[in-house]
Amino acid sequence: MSITVTKCCEDAPHQFTSLMRLPEEIRPPKLAMPTESCLTYELVHGSHPTRIAPVWDAANRSIWAWADKPEEIDREKYLRYVYGVSKTEGVSMPSRLAESIRQDLVTLVGHVHGDLTLHNVIERSGSQQLIFIDPGHAHGMACRELDEAKLLQTLDGFCLLYRGCRVDPGERLPVAVRRIHWALLWTHYVRLLRHMRSRKRKDCEIFARRRLSEIGELFA
Ligand SMILES: Nc1ncnc2c1ncn2[C@@H]1O[C@H](COP(=O)(O)OP(=O)(O)O)[C@@H](O)[C@H]1O
Ligand SMILES: [Mg+2]
Repeated sequence: MSITVTKCCEDAPHQFTSLMRLPEEIRPPKLAMPTESCLTYELVHGSHPTRIAPVWDAANRSIWAWADKPEEIDREKYLRYVYGVSKTEGVSMPSRLAESIRQDLVTLVGHVHGDLTLHNVIERSGSQQLIFIDPGHAHGMACRELDEAKLLQTLDGFCLLYRGCRVDPGERLPVAVRRIHWALLWTHYVRLLRHMRSRKRKDCEIFARRRLSEIGELFA
């Protein structure tokens, strides 16, 4: 018997459009938008993956793979957005970190997931098929490193604290981690502060603020 998940949120139209851009085999089955603010899909029986490489491979094959044309990059738009959030959160963005986002080499992609943590991936029971849920926004930074920095956030221990998501010992990103990954991870932590407060996850907020200060030091 199949169970339908209904997700109603402000972001539902974006989530629907973003998931519809994924190949059918990696998006939740029976994806639909019965009302303007709700999306529905079938519950996938499975668990969150504990390995990074298969998730990276599936994203590389099916999300980042070039479409007709890559998504546009607007680094200044992303910086303006992150500056705004940092200001509200009382965190200051190190200037060398902004410089990394402004200048470092990034990989153009056809599409980004936008919130590629392991708790937004489900591995179907009985098969190794991966289903991607809960996409986020690129805010102009539609590059592979934005998603890789989210995988780094999982490896950083955040998902274990937030959702009890385990990662196998010795797991790491299948690509070299560069300065831009740390810079983008820093922005992910700023971006999730408000979300953690709204979920009353003081523990996660404390974790994120500690990592903001530690990662910020890499750019001092
Ligand atoms: N189609 C699905 N199949 C199985 N589990 C799901 C499905 N959609 C969501 N979940 C579970 O619910 C959790 C929260 O859903 P999600 O859409 O990621 O919302 P949010 O992270 O905004 O709370 C996921 O981490 C996952 O464990
Ligand atoms: Mg989620």
